[in-house]
Amino acid sequence: MDRETKETAPEPLFVIRGLCKLFPGSGGGKAGGRADDSTAALDGVDLDIHRGECLLIAGSNGSGKTILMRIMAGLLEASGGSIRYKGNDLAWALKPSGEKTFRRELGIVFQDPDAQFVGETVEQDAAFGPLNLGMDKTESRRRGKAALEKTGLWEKRNLTPRRLSGGEKRRLALAGVLASGCETIIMDEPFANLDWPGVVQVLTIIKTLKAEGTTLVILTHELEKVLALADRLLILHRGRVRDNGPSEEVLGRLQNEYGVRDPRQSYTSIKDCSWLP
Ligand SMILES: Nc1ncnc2c1ncn2[C@@H]1O[C@H](COP(=O)(O)OP(=O)(O)OP(=O)(O)O)[C@@H](O)[C@H]1O
Ligand SMILES: [Mg+2]
Repeated sequence: MDRETKETAPEPLFVIRGLCKLFPGSGGGKAGGRADDSTAALDGVDLDIHRGECLLIAGSNGSGKTILMRIMAGLLEASGGSIRYKGNDLAWALKPSGEKTFRRELGIVFQDPDAQFVGETVEQDAAFGPLNLGMDKTESRRRGKAALEKTGLWEKRNLTPRRLSGGEKRRLALAGVLASGCETIIMDEPFANLDWPGVVQVLTIIKTLKAEGTTLVILTHELEKVLALADRLLILHRGRVRDNGPSEEVLGRLQNEYGVRDPRQSYTSIKDCSWLP
């Protein structure tokens, strides 16, 4: 990189260095357990996220994906390390004067969306995000409707979110974020509970968001569903970044202990249709 490029290149959207999260008193005798009996859910994570990229973070159950997302969203405090967002410490974005802007910019689709619903009906819920961000009622309803149509939930608009099926709840959580028009979206296991049309619908939305320049971070262990859309693959294992780079290269170096399955397989007969080795 020449001097001029170095000076003018914008800082990545997120710059994460040495991020740690310890949970006290639960590590005795377990993997990840420490001498002081704490567990490191994140253990020195370094990560840059660039504007407009689609980053896939893969890791087995308990590898630290959700904890990482919660810390990035300012919903959980780290035990150590630093996060810079748009060139400033994340704490700056989370100050009362800036938090609304940060929430408008960063959308989160939670793994367990139940806690995220606030509207009495599906329609109200989808419109809540933009309303809460200060848009007027008409615009919020318009955005909510468009998002429900995109996620195939418009016909369920009069139901209470509690009555939706697991897959529908997940799509409603996504609709809320779409309606808010966030420029960065983190999706935690976006395919869990979805049937085939549901997966196709979410993938179509991801593809459109990507084309529109939305920065996407997708946390999943279901690589086979989304890898083709990813610009980069990062492997998280026991709270550490084990690999990070172009998907093809990372898959070529995949180790069994990471608990992530290489999806580059072809199923040619029924007997091959099993995940047993
Ligand atoms: N409050 C807590 N106290 C102690 N340990 C916790 C707490 N919250 C999370 N952990 C531990 O942190 C580790 C990482 O959890 P996390 O939810 O980030 O995993 P994940 O990669 O999202 O897994 P999954 O694929 O199952 O969603 C897990 O081992 C979990 O048990
Ligand atoms: Mg998780």
